[in-house]
Amino acid sequence: MIPLKPETIRTDRLDLLPLQADHADEMAGVLSDPGLHTFTGGAPDTAQDLRIRYERLVGGSPNPGESWCNWIIRLRDDTCLAGYVQATVTADDRGAVAEIAWVTGTPWHRRGIATEATRGLVAWLRRHRVHTVVAHIHPGHRASAAVATAAGLTPTDQSHDGETRWQLTIG
Ligand SMILES: CC(C)(COP(=O)(O)OP(=O)(O)OC[C@H]1O[C@@H](n2cnc3c(N)ncnc32)[C@H](O)[C@@H]1OP(=O)(O)O)[C@@H](O)C(=O)NCCC(=O)NCCS
Repeated sequence: MIPLKPETIRTDRLDLLPLQADHADEMAGVLSDPGLHTFTGGAPDTAQDLRIRYERLVGGSPNPGESWCNWIIRLRDDTCLAGYVQATVTADDRGAVAEIAWVTGTPWHRRGIATEATRGLVAWLRRHRVHTVVAHIHPGHRASAAVATAAGLTPTDQSHDGETRWQLTIG
């Protein structure tokens, strides 16, 4: 099962496309609002920095027991990019554990896009023997808490760097 490679995932309105370095130029615009970093820290990347980061991500983890799976969210009807979802998958003796995250560009907020993309991602992970899905969310981040809840995750009493660990045990 390891390494796990992202495949195109289709949902009602979205195509989740395996990340490519060539997505960097359009994604730099999608992710240009500094407000996207309120809860996660950092600042928007330039297109050039994003391309370098995407090349590294597509190259994969240097750790053979870990898969970096990254998807760009494309709105099928508009054929524009709107955000991304990601999963870092590590193997254990029961199968695999995935740490996931999601981001959508500010112009596309509140249209259910993060929820639809994250549900599609979790369904894909289920099909690939992932038994536990984890996300770390700032306790004040209501939108992300709603996305996690809609994808089946629930908050635990554990936290890391000020973020609450959310979890879905698939079994
Ligand atoms: C979190 C984020 C992905 C939500 O994206 P989105 O595409 O607007 O999400 P959705 O439209 O699917 O909405 C999800 C829920 O959040 C709610 N919501 C969206 N924006 C909100 C806001 N600013 N305040 C409160 N609730 C909000 C929606 O009403 C919806 O709740 P509901 O299902 O109960 O109706 C987006 O705000 C974002 O990218 N933020 C910055 C990056 C980030 O922090 N990512 C999280 C890393 S784990």
